[in-house]
Amino acid sequence: MATLNLTDPIFELLSKTASAKGINAFVIGGYVRDQLLNRGSKKDIDIVVEGSGIDFAKAIASAIGKDVKVHIFKNFGTAMIHTSDWELEFVGARKESYRLDSRKPIVEDGSLEEDQERRDFTINAMAIQLFPLTGEVIDPFGGISDLEKKIIRTPLDPDKTYSDDPLRMMRAIRFASQLNFQIDRSSLESMKRNAERLKIVSMERITDELNKIILSPKPSVGFKHLFDTGLLQQFFPEMVALQGIKVIKGKAHKDNFYHTLQVLDNICENTDSLWLRWAAILHDIAKPVTRRFEENHGWTFHGHEDRGAKMVPGIFKKLKLPLNDKMKYVQKLVMLHLRPIVLSKEIVTDSAVRRLLFEAGDDVDDLMTLCEADITSKNQEKVNKYLANFELVRQKLVELEEKDRLRNWQPPVTGMDIMATFDIKPGKEIGVLKTAIREAILDGQIPNSFEAAYQYMIAEAEVMGLTAKNILQSSISENED
Ligand code: CTP
Repeated sequence: MATLNLTDPIFELLSKTASAKGINAFVIGGYVRDQLLNRGSKKDIDIVVEGSGIDFAKAIASAIGKDVKVHIFKNFGTAMIHTSDWELEFVGARKESYRLDSRKPIVEDGSLEEDQERRDFTINAMAIQLFPLTGEVIDPFGGISDLEKKIIRTPLDPDKTYSDDPLRMMRAIRFASQLNFQIDRSSLESMKRNAERLKIVSMERITDELNKIILSPKPSVGFKHLFDTGLLQQFFPEMVALQGIKVIKGKAHKDNFYHTLQVLDNICENTDSLWLRWAAILHDIAKPVTRRFEENHGWTFHGHEDRGAKMVPGIFKKLKLPLNDKMKYVQKLVMLHLRPIVLSKEIVTDSAVRRLLFEAGDDVDDLMTLCEADITSKNQEKVNKYLANFELVRQKLVELEEKDRLRNWQPPVTGMDIMATFDIKPGKEIGVLKTAIREAILDGQIPNSFEAAYQYMIAEAEVMGLTAKNILQSSISENED
């Protein structure tokens, strides 16, 4: 028999109130699981009550103090209390019963054990009674043994548990990926049978679990399960399409699904950022639609970075991911992901690095991280060569940034400067001159300064038949420096 020592003062308060009101209540679910796993940081506690969860929540709120608010969700029969340290969620124990005249279950008040068997996994179904607070773990389905064996298993027949809430199939995979657990074989088989039922679950809930898989230490574990069970096919066909190898005239291309997973695992060693991880997932997403076999070259995926960047908004929209600067960031990295690779294959010129810095701006370091993760060749010699060249690109990036300050580049001569100098109204000449200045700076013909750019502009304008009417001394952008 296992016991847990619940020492935080909140448990004393919960226990005293349960005793005073004669309420049978229990801590249940994730809190108990994480304590047993020594994953101590959890700040939300689920409490199940034999009776009304809402009434117990009200009693707890008044025991804590006057200003404590209870958030009641009447339709679900649940209540929440936020304290400075904790988020407490209260629910009444429930059971399902079937009426003779209907196959639809009705949810009725139930006992603790009836509630436990309706939960998702044995490791999430363990409870501890609040009064008396002995700390004894009530574990009718073998959760402790499954924690030890590192197994995700449902308390009931998995077909029943998953049909109660098909999102639990995603949750099984999420926990397996987060905790590095195996999923019980009968669960996996049930998931294959029931994968299509995921369609009835809202996209937001699915994506929530998907993001937790992506944020786990080795997301390929989760993605392989998603693919093998047929769940990924329900909501992310673009990623599924990456899978497979085609052979023509004895030439095969690599399997881009497993390649993508390797890139994703690689990048997870260097970043906790969800969005950089998403960029890794999507970097080759357009390979299936751009794949061609060319007689002389073999397999090509020309333009997949461009097409991929164009696919990002549609995928984000469908998966209900945010359509804001996060999406633009992912799009930009997908678009630019080949650039450092091309660079590292050739002699690394200043002007090519300057252009990269100009286009990637502040995201250039993340882009380099993505590109390094993208090296999945088995040929160690090749890997070493690429990595050494990337190192050179990184060094050049630092040198040039110090010299030219091209990150978040602002034109040293503005459109207003141009109009004032030549006494002209807005028109296409201004764009032509601004582009000429930018190109000259990126090519390294002139430094990134007002003086140099201004001189250059006057010379270029003369060729276009424009004569300076006023000479400006410096620009606002330089004064701001
Ligand atoms: N639960 C369930 N079925 C679901 C969701 C949740 O049976 N589809 C139960 C589980 O007992 C779970 C508890 O409700 O432990 C709380 O759920 P939740 O807060 O989503 O997850 P946690 O287990 O607390 O884990 P985490 O905080 O890592 O999400």
